[in-house]
Amino acid sequence: MPMLPEIEERWSAQGYTSKDIGKDTLHRVLDAARQSPSAKNRQEWRFVVATKADLRRKLADAAFGQEQVASAPVIIAACTTNIDYRMPNGQLSYPIDLAVSVAFMMLQARHDGVDSCAVTTFNELDVKDLLSVPHAMRVVSLVTLGYAADERPPRERKSLQDIVGYEHW
Ligand SMILES: Cc1cc2nc3c(=O)[nH]c(=O)nc-3n(C[C@H](O)[C@H](O)[C@H](O)COP(=O)(O)O)c2cc1C
Repeated sequence: MPMLPEIEERWSAQGYTSKDIGKDTLHRVLDAARQSPSAKNRQEWRFVVATKADLRRKLADAAFGQEQVASAPVIIAACTTNIDYRMPNGQLSYPIDLAVSVAFMMLQARHDGVDSCAVTTFNELDVKDLLSVPHAMRVVSLVTLGYAADERPPRERKSLQDIVGYEHW
C-alpha cells in the first residue's frame, strides 16, 4: 500500500510566486483545520487569514523578514482560544490541537497542488497586534500558502530504525 501522496510530496516552501491560491482551495484548507481532531473535541481555536498585501508585509516583518512569509499570497495564523486546558496527562492541549490542525491544513493544501510552510519564527506580540488577537490568547503557528518559487530540496529524515522502538524505548 503506497504512502499518501500528500505526505510524500509536501515540503516547506521558502518563497512563493505571486500566483494566488484561489478561494475554493483556501476554503478547503480552512475546512481541513475545522475537521481536524482536538482533545475532548473542544475545538478551542481560531484561524485568522491574512490576504491583504500591506498586512502580509507587516506579518513578514513580524516574522523577522522571512522570505516565504513576505511572498506568500495567503498567511493563516493558527491561534488558541483557551490557554489553560490540560489533558489527563498534565500537558496543555492547545499546542497539540493547533499543531494537528496545521498538519491537516498543509496536507489539504498539498492535495490541492498548493505549497505551504509552518512558521513559528515570529514575534508573537507583533503578530497579535497586527491580527487583533487578544493578548491573553496565543498564536501557535503561522501557515504560509502559495505556489513555491523554488524546486523542492531533497528530503532529509532519520531512518525508521532510529526513531521507532517496538515494545520498549
Ligand atoms: C513547528 C514548526 C515550526 C517551523 N517554523 C519554521 C519557520 O519559522 N520558518 C521556516 O522557514 N520553516 C519552519 N518550519 C519548517 C521546517 O523547517 C521544515 O518542516 C523542516 O526543515 C523539514 O522540511 P520539510 O518540511 O520540507 O520536509 C517549521 C516547521 C515546524 C513543524
